Amino acid sequence: MSVTKKIAVLPGDGIGPEVMAQGIKALKAIEEKYGHSFHLKEAIIGGIAIDKTGNPLPKETLEIAMDADAVLLGAIGSPKYADPTLKVRPEQGLLGLRKALGLYANIRPVKAYDKLIGLSPIKNERIQGADFVIFRELTGGIYFGASGRDAENTEAYDTMSYKDYEIKRIAHVAFKSAMNRRKDLCLVDKANVLESSRFWRETVDQVAKEYPEVKLSYLYVDNAAMQLILNPKRFDVMLTANLFGDILSDEASVIGGSLGLLPSASVGEKRCLFEPVHGSFPEGAGKDIANPTAMILSIAMMFDHFEMHQEAKDIYEAIDTCMEKSIMTTDLNPEVSYSCSQFGDIVESIILGEEINIKSVKQGSYSII
Ligand code: IPM
Ligand code: MN
Repeated sequence: MSVTKKIAVLPGDGIGPEVMAQGIKALKAIEEKYGHSFHLKEAIIGGIAIDKTGNPLPKETLEIAMDADAVLLGAIGSPKYADPTLKVRPEQGLLGLRKALGLYANIRPVKAYDKLIGLSPIKNERIQGADFVIFRELTGGIYFGASGRDAENTEAYDTMSYKDYEIKRIAHVAFKSAMNRRKDLCLVDKANVLESSRFWRETVDQVAKEYPEVKLSYLYVDNAAMQLILNPKRFDVMLTANLFGDILSDEASVIGGSLGLLPSASVGEKRCLFEPVHGSFPEGAGKDIANPTAMILSIAMMFDHFEMHQEAKDIYEAIDTCMEKSIMTTDLNPEVSYSCSQFGDIVESIILGEEINIKSVKQGSYSII
């Protein structure tokens, strides 16, 4: 059955436009293969939007995002606006968009690819078979709590505060995922110190009653940071607050071998957004060296979200094929490196069932028959 979707495309800053272009190749390959109609509308966000309009989230961008069935986002952040004391910063565009779209659940799957475990600085036997998902609360907590300074500028504060419904709604999303996985949910918090964490435990305990099959455990965030490296296989579904999830997901990327591999989905009641976990890597911008895997996998997550599972599977399999054939960008394999755009071309061809002929293992040498 052919499907029609409106998709907002926000490439953003740095390598964002380059990885997005490869993601769109995969998207269009799926469109062609299945006869779907994807209506893409591009808009600016982040540093480039500040350059052009003075606003990191222009009204028109927000309207396009609000009107879409899904939003795709590349990356945000620019050295020009790196000074954290600036009043207007690119990151405000992303945070504003997450809040405006009500994207309270950020889903970050992490897995160790067999072909890549040698690249991880962690001992291979520790990470082989690691496969878990981080559910990070995304529109509350210390990211959005009251913050400020006193009149004399001798004190500054940020507030970590959660309402029960904010915890319950993401807890349900995480428990539902656990039901479809290994039925093991670990709540990560700092309940030995923070009242808001004790409230998370209390609230998650209540939600857990609706999912009696799921084994619920708790870890303090400092210990979880260590367990992620010592024994990542112990995790199935990890549920945590906004700031903890931000920190732990970057740490978790080491398990996969590169931050360039981690996709994410952010979902709310009505809307959804898909973006790589990595940032805008300004040093790599314009050089065609970025790894577009995370962006391409984020689009696979979009298809899964739309219940278009075969389409998602096509993308996952294309990425697996690339890994098996050592078709990788320079972050993963400097000796056999394919450029960002070559990688995108190859993924597109695999999806379309075109045969790839790898002529040699030298720098990006291949042909599409
Ligand atoms: C992420 C990023 C963002 C965050 C920044 C860019 C605001 O680090 O998506 O993890 O802190 O949420
Ligand atoms: Mn982050």
